[in-house]
Amino acid sequence: MRKNIRKLSFLVVFASWGFQAPAGYASEDEWLGLPEGNGREEVFYSCQACHSLMTVTQQGLNRESWKETLVWMIEEQGMAEPDEEEWGPILDYLSTFYGRDRKAKNMAAGD
Ligand code: HEC
Repeated sequence: MRKNIRKLSFLVVFASWGFQAPAGYASEDEWLGLPEGNGREEVFYSCQACHSLMTVTQQGLNRESWKETLVWMIEEQGMAEPDEEEWGPILDYLSTFYGRDRKAKNMAAGD
């Protein structure tokens, strides 16, 4: 009897693996389309507090302009200032994927 139960639970675990959505799919949704990268978490959590992430992702700025935008966000819009060690990843992330060449958009469009 015990042995059967153990066998059964093994089967359940094994079967449920098969029904999971492909990893890539699930995580894209989870991050509302933000591409994977260092700094994604900070951007995701701090930038949606006041406006949609679309406000962020439709921009295409270089690192310096992103920095100015965030300073404006902090000084004029009341955004909480990121911790010192968060600035680097946030600016890297934004200028990499939402820089002048809009890498994230190109990735989504498939080229
Ligand atoms: C405390 C609130 C708040 C937070 C947090 C915040 N923003 Fe904003 N943001 C605003 C407001 C208010 C505006 C101007 C009105 C609007 O577009 O909704 C704005 C506008 C913007 C714009 C448009 C600027 C333009 O020139 O039109 C960008 C880009 C932007 N935010 C990026 C960010 C990013 C990136 C983050 C996260 C690091 C962030 N925001 C977090 C309040 C905030």
